[in-house]
Formats: sequence, C-alpha cells, structure tokens
Amino acid sequence: MSLPEVSFSELHLPSAGEIVLFSFKEQVKTELFDKIDQAVNGALTRAIAAEQFNGKFGDTCVLLTPSNAFSHIVLIGLGEHGDFNQALAKQAGGIAAGVLRNKTTQLDFVLDQSLSEFAGQIALGAVLSNYHFDLYQTDAEKKRKHKKLQKINFFVPNPNLAKNDWQKLSAVAEGIYLTRNLVNEPANILTPPVFAERIQKLQSLGLTIEVLDRSKMQELGFGALLGVAQGSNAEARTVIIRWNGNPDDHEAPLAFLGKGVTFDSGGISLKPAAGMDEMKTDMAGAATVVGLMSVLAKRKAKVNVVGVVGLVENMVSGNAQRPGDIVRSASGQTIEVLNTDAEGRLVLADILWYTQDRFKPRFMVNLATLTGAIVVALGHEHAGLFSNNDELAAHLVKTGQGVNELLWRMPLSAAYDKALDSSIADMKNIGGRDGGSITAAQFLQRFVNNTPWAHLDIAGTAYTAKARHCSPKGGTAFGVCLLNQFVEDYYEA
Ligand code: BES
Ligand code: MN
Ligand code: ZN
Repeated sequence: MSLPEVSFSELHLPSAGEIVLFSFKEQVKTELFDKIDQAVNGALTRAIAAEQFNGKFGDTCVLLTPSNAFSHIVLIGLGEHGDFNQALAKQAGGIAAGVLRNKTTQLDFVLDQSLSEFAGQIALGAVLSNYHFDLYQTDAEKKRKHKKLQKINFFVPNPNLAKNDWQKLSAVAEGIYLTRNLVNEPANILTPPVFAERIQKLQSLGLTIEVLDRSKMQELGFGALLGVAQGSNAEARTVIIRWNGNPDDHEAPLAFLGKGVTFDSGGISLKPAAGMDEMKTDMAGAATVVGLMSVLAKRKAKVNVVGVVGLVENMVSGNAQRPGDIVRSASGQTIEVLNTDAEGRLVLADILWYTQDRFKPRFMVNLATLTGAIVVALGHEHAGLFSNNDELAAHLVKTGQGVNELLWRMPLSAAYDKALDSSIADMKNIGGRDGGSITAAQFLQRFVNNTPWAHLDIAGTAYTAKARHCSPKGGTAFGVCLLNQFVEDYYEA
C-alpha cells in the first residue's frame, strides 16, 4: 500500500533484470528492439513471430531468457503512432506492470525518443495497477509469493523532462492510493469519527482541517444528515478541508463535496443481503475528495479550494429513522423520508447548502455513489454527470476524456423535479423507480441555491469487482485524476 520507488535515467540497456519495451504498429522492430534481440541471439524476433505479435494496442509478448542475465523481456504493443496519447500511455504502463504482477520487485522500462514525453504517464499507470490492499493479510508466506514492485526504473532519452512530470504525477498516484485505501477499509474500522481522524492527519500536508461534530451540526440545523446518522452507534461528522495555494487570489474558492456513507445498510428500508458488503464503499465520493485535496497540497497547486465531506453510517436500530419521518434540512426545507435507503441525497442536501452559504464558491462539484439506477443506465464505463451549468459540464466532460475517466451528461428539468413533490412536506426523498438517477439529482439541485453545480454519480465507477483501468478489484479512486486535471487546466494561476 506504499508506492514503489520510480527513477529516471539516461537511456542505456540494463544488463540484467526484467525489461519492458514498447512498439508501435508501424515499426515493431525498433532500434531498441534490435539491440535487445542481439543480446538474446535473436530470441525476441523468433518470439514475436511465434506469438504473431504485430504491435496492436495492449498485445503483449513475454520472453523468458534463462540463458541471459535478463529474466523476462516484455514487449507491449501501442497501436498506431498517430492514435497514441497520454491516456493510452497510462493504460500501457498499467498493462506492463500487470504482465509480471506478483513475479518481480523491480521493472526496467526502456523508452526511445518516440516515447520520451510519455514516461510520466507510463510510470503512473504502472504504479496504479500495482496497488494492492493487503493491510489485513497476515499470512507471510502468501505475501512472499505475491512479490510487489518496489522499484521501477526508466531509461529514457530525456530523464529530466520525465522527472519533472513525475513530480506532479507522483502526487496524483499518492492521492489515488490514499483514496483506494479509504474505500477498501471495512466499515467496522472506518466509522465516521475514524474517517475524520484520518483526514485530520493530512494537516501535515499544509491543509486546514475543521471537523463538525453532532452538536455543532445540530446547531447548524443539519436535520437531513443527522436523521440518516441517528440509527448508528457511530456519531456523524462533517469535515471541511481547505487548501489555500494562492493566497493573493481573493476570488471565491472552488468547492468539491463528497458523500461519505461509511456503510449503507439501507436503514429500516433494509437492502437485500446479497452484495450488501459492497456498501462499505458508499463513502467513495468523500474518499475521492480527500484524495484530491491531498494531491493539490502535495503538488502545491496555485489555487484556493475547499473540500467538504459528510460522514455518516446508515444503520438499523431502535433509534433509526423510519419511512414517513419528516426532517428539516439546513436550508429550512422539510423532507418526507419515504425510503431510508435514499440517504446519500439527505447527507448531500445539508453539506451542499452549508457550503454555498458559507463559502459562496465559484462552483460546487459533488461526487456520490448515489443511485443503483446510474449503474443500470451507464454500466461501469461512464459516471453520470448532472449540472445546472453548460460550461462547467462541458469542461468536466472534456477533461474526463483526456484522462480516461469518462462522464456522460444526463438531463435535468422541471418535469423530472415534479416527481419529488410531497403533499405534507416541501419534498419527498424519492421520486419513484423511473429515471431514478435523475430524480436523485433533481433532489440535490434543490439545495444548491443557483450556485454553478455539477453532480457526479459514481455508483458504477468508484468500485470494480475485477481488475480494470489500472485498478485491481476494489476502490478505483475514479475522479481523483479527473478533478485534479480539471483544476489544473481551468483554474490554476
Ligand atoms: N448507495 C446506494 C446506491 C448504490 C447502489 C451505490 C449500488 C453503489 C452501488 C444508495 O444510497 C441507494 O441505496 N440508492 C437507492 C435509491 C432508491 C431507494 C431511491 C437505489 O439506488 O436503489
Ligand atoms: Mn442507500
Ligand atoms: Zn448509499
């Protein structure tokens, strides 16, 4: 769960170890290829013929070289040169590290001039795909068999350029590890108060942390959030994380918010047993905001940002919220809670209102594993994007394409909003089965008070049941890369 060390030095052929090299479709046999091929007496040429390797993106050819000092030579196809980009470089790095997963503690990448500007992203992909959550595996024998990468060396024509890139990208990698560690923690360990303590530790990065406990939230009128939390023995927290990287800027800050339900049993509207364990990841939105704030601090981003996370556990008990209860939110609006499993929106309602009221931010972007319906609609390839602001939405979509964390914009309108009307309170917390992700977003919009706002429904992308996109099974940290890039591209001085 700690990052492997990454180094960059002048291009030369290492004389031993595990070597990774890449080829585009246009020219599989590069100069580097030929050099290595000579060192192994033509075995590489014979191997690509036997494997029919032609440089297609993602294809791999692995050569065991027992007679030489090398142990494996891994050749990876990059596809057409003209189609290649930074997002694919990251993916290729992930594939490379995947090929020898559990087999080596060190990898040596050799890159020629054509890849010199991609070294940073290749390193990022390799580091991210090498993540493994092993905090609770006590079996030493098993751990020894599963060798983890400790060192990744890059031999490149321009190591200084790559080192420079890696300075920023290693902050991203560390932020993603932090987010995944939080998402993968079981809910008996990561309760709201423990989550808040973990965030407080980030003060050492230069972040300012403020924790609101139950009595403070009662004072602020957080009736919607506290209603969700009341069935749990663990007390709720709201945590405000501030990064003031540009003190000369007196404009309003940017705001990122996250749903942090450390376990979502559904409450009295109890979820079915199958797969309920996955609901320990229902705090992924909050974990992503925490990871993002750590990245901004680590790379000393020249920008002022506030992160706000609402941390609660949604449990069943004699004190749990009932279907039919009516709560008063921080905005003053009352909510008829018809389904206690539609709890994320209740948590977000109070922190969205509080954030716009206190910070008057330039915009608010919230992340939440909000609805099963978004998984039905978009599967695991895109997160749902809902926004009251076309420019903000367009920037987010574009940034997502660049880093391969894809967003698909979904509609909002008064007609959908109507589904939330209640006959005895200002609104209901559910709008029926149809268009479930949209009515959930409509609910949130009632608490943003016309602030430019975007809601990312990450229920389908925050967690993966099998390894994909540079992530092993578990929390993916979807959104950390995306929002870090979004801040860098549009808001940094
Ligand atoms: N945390 C869930 C949504 C979820 C589902 C996240 C699957 C990840 C994977 C959320 O709190 C929830 O229970 N939503 C309900 C809303 C319904 C009761 C209106 C849902 O999607 O079924
Ligand atoms: Mn729920
Ligand atoms: Zn939930």
